[in-house]
This record gives sequence, structure tokens and C-alpha cells, in this order.
Amino acid sequence: MAEHVEDFDTVLVVDFGAQYAQLIARRVREARVYSEIVPHTVSAAELVARRPAAVILSGGPASVHVDGAPRLDPAVYDLDIPVFGICYGAQLIAQQLGGEVARTGRGEYGRTALTVAAGTHSLLFADLPLAQDVWMSHFDSIQVAPDGFEVTAWTADSAVAALEGHERRTYGVQFHPEVVHTDRGQEVLEHFLFDVAGCRPTWTMASIIDTSVDAIRAQVGTEKVICGLSGGVDSAVAAALVHKAIGDQLTCVFVDTGLMRAGEADQVEDTFRRQFNVDLVHVKAADRFLGALDDVIDPERKRKIIGETFIRVFEEQAADLSDARFLVQGTLYPDIIESGTKDAARIKSHHNVGGLPEDMQFELVEPLRNLFKDEVRHMGEQLGLPEDIVWRQPFPGPGLAVRIVGTVTPERVEILRSADAIVTEEIKRAGLYRKLWQSFAVLPGVRTVGVMGDERTYAYPIVIRAVTSDDAMTADWARLPYDVLERISSRLINEVPGVNRVALDITSKPPGTIEWE
Ligand code: XMP
Repeated sequence: MAEHVEDFDTVLVVDFGAQYAQLIARRVREARVYSEIVPHTVSAAELVARRPAAVILSGGPASVHVDGAPRLDPAVYDLDIPVFGICYGAQLIAQQLGGEVARTGRGEYGRTALTVAAGTHSLLFADLPLAQDVWMSHFDSIQVAPDGFEVTAWTADSAVAALEGHERRTYGVQFHPEVVHTDRGQEVLEHFLFDVAGCRPTWTMASIIDTSVDAIRAQVGTEKVICGLSGGVDSAVAAALVHKAIGDQLTCVFVDTGLMRAGEADQVEDTFRRQFNVDLVHVKAADRFLGALDDVIDPERKRKIIGETFIRVFEEQAADLSDARFLVQGTLYPDIIESGTKDAARIKSHHNVGGLPEDMQFELVEPLRNLFKDEVRHMGEQLGLPEDIVWRQPFPGPGLAVRIVGTVTPERVEILRSADAIVTEEIKRAGLYRKLWQSFAVLPGVRTVGVMGDERTYAYPIVIRAVTSDDAMTADWARLPYDVLERISSRLINEVPGVNRVALDITSKPPGTIEWE
């Protein structure tokens, strides 16, 4: 998208500590200004080449006093590009432009009362109340602002909580405007973007889609393109977007492993073939996958077999589509940032079951590579994808097979699929589906005794697994309301033959993982 700078302004966030930088970029984008993250090693010349409307220096975990602490190329301050430093970024501005930053031994953490100075020329706090709560997290403190800077706010323990250099258009705040606990944070950030830097709020979803469509057309010309659909949101949005750009030059391949959630395959058909009129190859390969999994118990072997079978099936289809030159991948912006490089021209294994073979000579089309997950969902809605696809919870590539402990037989897949559908329905009915990271059923490899009517039963339990999480790296088990659990339990036992008991998994991650295998 960077090639379309004339349509919207770009704000570059210099990264002094990854998670802070991502959040800032997202907040800037919420203000409808395009934002990208660059490493702190960026030189002034490299920054200028990107023609940013403004530069934001993120917070970070380091102290400016530590040897080897990350610095900004000082020439950046002389580029006549507006600069806004946040926390560590503000301390750098103070230190690099001749102010003073000290280790006072009195850091500030958490919600803190901020006093905005009355009668200043503040642009950051224009129209905002003189007393407000902000979120602090710092150890060092700015003691003296550099010459030419006005101190426009302070707290009990920070003499300089905001500094504004109007002439050099360089600003800094010690607090974190990007976090929700800073009540007026978004307004402070927008004052910088609009009143200091004069950014235009033109980065709307409609403009993103238009720009992406142009870029896809420019990249692929009249060539043919393949897109693997997994049923998940990323590949669905990527496919819908590419289809909008190039219509029937696109062929989508959906490999139905027989290990999908209830209704998923039908929904892909309905949405892409019938609603969008996409050329869709629906490969019904359930027998093949289940055959390959016969008697396999070890989780890693299951994954390997499913991955390899997937590759073989995809290769066979691709052979029929040998005139295609491009392959669409639903790579997202966090994947690009985390890979630490702008070169994401490789296929990550988690995007498809097991990844694709390296000798497949496709050029990649990655139309979502500048977007965060919430932006992808928003785009999906705008492109007319159904809510069920756009808001679908994450699902592992190997599908239900890693939620069936022990052997994967057609009967056991059917039990789990029906049970999972009931869990999902009740979670949705309770309005919890979007609040949970994942919620699903697991089928353990044991049977237990029960009694139904006058009869003794010997059947499977179902385990309910529901977790909250931001990124799946850590997770907490969800405190589901008892009445929801009761409805799920009663429905599972009454409606799913082969199930006579229901249990709840109350393990966080770590020590547990989200999936059972
Ligand atoms: P765990 O179980 O490791 O899962 O806590 C973390 C996240 O990754 C998903 N997951 C997978 N995704 N292929 C995938 O594409 C896999 O083999 C796989 N295993 C786990 C899981 O659903 C959760 O969101």
C-alpha cells in the first residue's frame, strides 16, 4: 500500500519495544491515518524516503541511561517532520535534545493523576480538562525539558509529564496515550496527528479496499491466481478481496479434510460459489484423511499425516491449475512485524495444514500483509462476507483430529462434531462467542459408566474447553455462567448419541495448552 501515499498520509511508529509499537499503530489507524512500524535502527534518510506525515517514538522497556539503550538517529529531529515521543520516546527526545532525564528512584506505575498547566500554548491538551487520569509505566523521569520546549503537564512524581516544542514540531508525553486506561489518550494522540502534523483522516476501510484492489491488479496483471480456503477468516477475506480485484482470474481450492466444524464446508460453498460466484474447487477428501489416520494415536503423528495428506491433495489440484502463477496467502501485519523483516516471501506453516511444498513455484499475493486482525474482520464485513465467517474463532489446521484424544474414527469425528456444534450454539446464544478466544468440545479417549432411564450406559464424556486470550500464547480458562454450562451439559447428553457425561476443563495456559493435543 505504501506506493499509494498520495491517497493517505503515513505515520511511522519507531519501535522501541514491540507490543507498545503495535498498539500505537493500531490507535493511529483508528484515527483513520495509515501507520506502519519501523525498527529503531532506521536512519533519517530511510525515514525521509518513506515520506511520513509524522513520526511517533514508542515506549520501550529500556532505560535511556543503560549502555547500548536503543537511540534514534539524531538527524531525525532536523527533518522538519513532526515527532511525538511516548514514554521512553519522550525521554529520548528530552535526552537527545539537551534536556535532563534522571533516575529519581520514584517511578510511576498504573493510573496516575495528571495536571495540565493552565494558560500554555498546548496543542496536545487543547480543549481537554486540566485534571485527568493517565496510565504510567516508567522508572526514569524527565527533569528538565530541552530549550524551546514548553512543559504542559506534570504529576506528583513527574515534573515533566508532557513537553511541547512548537517550533520544531516535536512533542512528548511520559504517559501512555495508547492504552484504554488513559481516559483522554486517543484525543491527545489525535491532537498530535491532526493539529500538529496536519494528517488527513482518509484511511477508511473503503479506501483500503480500493487501494488493495489496485495493488492486486497491478501485481497479477492478466495472470491466473490460486487461493487455498481453510474456512478461517484470513483466507476468506483474502479470497473475497482478490476476487473483487480480478474476478474469474481467481480459482479457490477448498480441501475438505472431513475434520472441519459442523456446517463449515457448506458455508464455504454457499459463500464463495453461490454468493460471490467464485470459481471454487471443493475437494472432498474426508475418506482419504480418515484412512491415513487409521489407528494413529500420537498427536504429532496425526499432525504430520494430516499435513502431508493436505500437501498431496493440494498438489494434485494445483497440477490441474498449472497455468496459475500466483498463490494468495492470508499473511497479516503482526506476522510481518514478528518475522522482523519486510521479506515475508515464504509460506508459514500455520496458514495451511502443514504448509505447502517448497518446490511449488508460485509468486505470493499477500493482500492483508499491512492489516491487523481486527481490520481484517472489518474488511470482511465490508466485502459482504457472512458474520459467521468474519467472526469465527481460531481453529487448528489439523481440525477436530487434535481434539479427539486417541484414535480418529468416522464415528468419533461425528460425535465430536455434533458436540462441538452444541457448545458453539449455546455459547453464541449466551452472547459469549466473540468475548472468548476459543470455545469448543473435546472428546477424550476413555468411556465412563452412567445410567439413563433404567439402563446402564458405557459411553464417552465430552470436555468443554473455553478460554480467554489475546494472542494464544497465554490463556485463562473462561468462567462460564452455570446456567450456560447446565444447558450445554443437558443438550450434549440428550442430543449426542454416545455421550453420557460432561466435564469442564479449568486449566490455564501455561501449564496447559489450549488444544488437548
Ligand atoms: P495450543 O494448543 O498450542 O494452541 O495452546 C495455540 C493456538 O494455536 C492453535 N493450534 C494450531 N493451529 N495448526 C494450526 O494451524 C496446529 O497444528 C495447531 N495446534 C494448535 C490453537 O487452536 C490455538 O488457537
